[in-house]
Amino acid sequence: MNATAARTLGVLISGRGSNLQALIDAIAEGRLRATIGVVISNRADAAGLERARASSIRAVVVEHRGFPSREAFEAAVVDELQAAGVRLVCLAGFMRLVGATLLDAFPNAVLNIHPSLLPCFPGVNAQGQALEHGVKISGATVHLVTRELDNGPIVLQAPVPVRADDTPETLSARILIEEHRLYPEAVRTLLDGGWTLQGRRFVPASASR
Ligand code: GRF
Repeated sequence: MNATAARTLGVLISGRGSNLQALIDAIAEGRLRATIGVVISNRADAAGLERARASSIRAVVVEHRGFPSREAFEAAVVDELQAAGVRLVCLAGFMRLVGATLLDAFPNAVLNIHPSLLPCFPGVNAQGQALEHGVKISGATVHLVTRELDNGPIVLQAPVPVRADDTPETLSARILIEEHRLYPEAVRTLLDGGWTLQGRRFVPASASR
């Protein structure tokens, strides 16, 4: 594998793509040494596809509805990722459960970003769940993806205070600012290597030397 391939990302989206944009910007500004080989959306109307095209990144639609099973859908996604020489897969608002077909093709190399401090509030509407529960601090988490939803080893987290007058929209907006800072940093940590997994603990290179 050459040096470029070793730092090639594949980004999976379903919608807006602001985290995709954060990765694109970090690469363009030299804060993240990587290449995005392909952006794949399971929805043809995902706004993130345009963000990819605007940066001359290959943007592909693989609609899950067109496949008879999750395995068949993921096999098509894996084909695209492998054809683009992807080393690390970044889920960025990808609204499908990920199964063995994708995870086995990219062992310990699928990342996700989630808008809460996991293990609190997995699943959809994490910001609304946090407000409803009444927590005073929520935040963002980047984690390795496993078969269990939002439950893999935690790579990085950032706290965000919850205000008394927050709505799901205002809290989401403040968490999103942290997401955009966190995701490129987590991707860099993964790509730079030297990290280990101790049980479900992600131990960064600096701590395992
Ligand atoms: C983000 O809040 C992310 O944490 C969650 O879905 C949202 C995607 O937003 N998984 P965007 O498409 O990256 O703008």
